[in-house]
Amino acid sequence: MTTGHKIARNLLPLSGTVREVMARLNEGVGGVVLFTDNDGVLRGVATDGDIRRAILNGCNLDTPAADFMIRKFTSGHADADPTQNLALLSARIRHLPILDSAGRPVDLLTWADLWRMPLVQPSLGGNESKYVNDCLATGWISSQGPYIEKFQNAFAAYMGGGRAFCTSSGTTALHLALEALGIGAGDEVIVPDFTFGATANVVLHANATPIFVDVDPITWTLDPKAMEAAITSRTKAVIPVHLYGHPCDMDPIMALAREHGLKVIEDCAEALGAEYKGRKVGLIGDVGCFSFFANKVITTGEGGMVLTNSSELAATMAMLRDHGMAPGRRYWHLAAGYNYRMTNLQAAVGLAQLERIDVFLDRRAELVKRYNGYLAGFAGLQLPTQAPWARNIYWLYSLAVCPEHLGMNRDQLAARLQERGIETRPVFHPLHDQPAYRTGIAHPCPVTADIAARGLSLPTGNEMTGAEVDRVCDALTSIMRTQQVYRAQPA
Ligand SMILES: Cc1ncc(COP(=O)(O)O)c(C=O)c1O
Repeated sequence: MTTGHKIARNLLPLSGTVREVMARLNEGVGGVVLFTDNDGVLRGVATDGDIRRAILNGCNLDTPAADFMIRKFTSGHADADPTQNLALLSARIRHLPILDSAGRPVDLLTWADLWRMPLVQPSLGGNESKYVNDCLATGWISSQGPYIEKFQNAFAAYMGGGRAFCTSSGTTALHLALEALGIGAGDEVIVPDFTFGATANVVLHANATPIFVDVDPITWTLDPKAMEAAITSRTKAVIPVHLYGHPCDMDPIMALAREHGLKVIEDCAEALGAEYKGRKVGLIGDVGCFSFFANKVITTGEGGMVLTNSSELAATMAMLRDHGMAPGRRYWHLAAGYNYRMTNLQAAVGLAQLERIDVFLDRRAELVKRYNGYLAGFAGLQLPTQAPWARNIYWLYSLAVCPEHLGMNRDQLAARLQERGIETRPVFHPLHDQPAYRTGIAHPCPVTADIAARGLSLPTGNEMTGAEVDRVCDALTSIMRTQQVYRAQPA
């Protein structure tokens, strides 16, 4: 038997009226209503388009289903092979009721079952398998091996300088930076309220206090004015997060940091390749921290990198990453360090990924152009931007929904897109609201609250095609158009 959709909300009795169908569809019931008789047998169906045509043909809101439903419909069989049922879906047949042997609907397949657009997919078609096979063949699978050095060197070369050290994740990279900078108990660290939790988690791991401040409404990154207002005699560091691929406005942040003697740890987890006034982010502050989780621009599965211009910090981070052992003396611990190392296998993947970063970033720029071109002009959507001084690498194409224009909120829009097979992702919640961060100190963050409620990321992948962008946009525009049709109906 086919499993999948819960169809209870799609069902109406034959007495169901145009009004009831429209109400169901308006609640986002999956594009079709199924009419069943007293025995539960499917007798007819109606979609948005059928209702529109029924009204044009003179039906009113109280007309019963028998007068407007479509009696000739294609259905699948519960006992059939699922692929046989799926094969019945087409551009014309976008909803397929699945019936049991008595003709009662037990499931509903839609074209979303046929086509799925993931939010992100890693692109692993370069030298990844060749290099990984090399690790396997040579036995260098742990954290020693030639690819570690190669990846670190290639990374520093791509960044235009600095010393780079692979880590086991972006989170451990951030923690390593805080520890190496001597941040600890009693210290305050300013972090944006709008970021992934790892940025604040590491501050707590270092026994310091996160101070949550607001972000800029255009770039969604740390607002220097909010940072300034949060500085106290205990402030020791700031973590500007280049969020969703957009760089922070680093000049005023660095000026404040210099004035108050603060360390600056750039959280570049989402922003490899992003530029501030022509400089790549990551070497502007004291340490830059990167993530290579599978949804990032380049990936090693799990993994990260720290980058710094300071040879002293570089040495401390390398030592702490390696159990705190002295580099020249085996099993001699200078500090109670960590095992935050990356494996040679991961570095092999990372090197192959880095070889193609320019292709990945160019691809993203094309996608963004296409998204922007298609979606510009819809009052219900606030599209992502790029400050004049910035190179935004658009880690995820993230927009903000304007419910007053769209007639539905972010989560409703996401649910409609999901029905059409399009995966989206809400943006991060304000950190200070969350149980984990109650010991932090929060400054007013109205911009974060607003974006967090309205922000939505659309599919953005290194291999996403223009046609796929169009398909996401087609779905979006058709949902928005449908919403306007509903809004035009009398209540
Ligand atoms: C802004 C930000 N900081 C830190 C991290 C942590 O990186 P990782 O998942 O590699 O530990 C992430 C990752 O998802 C992130 O988005």
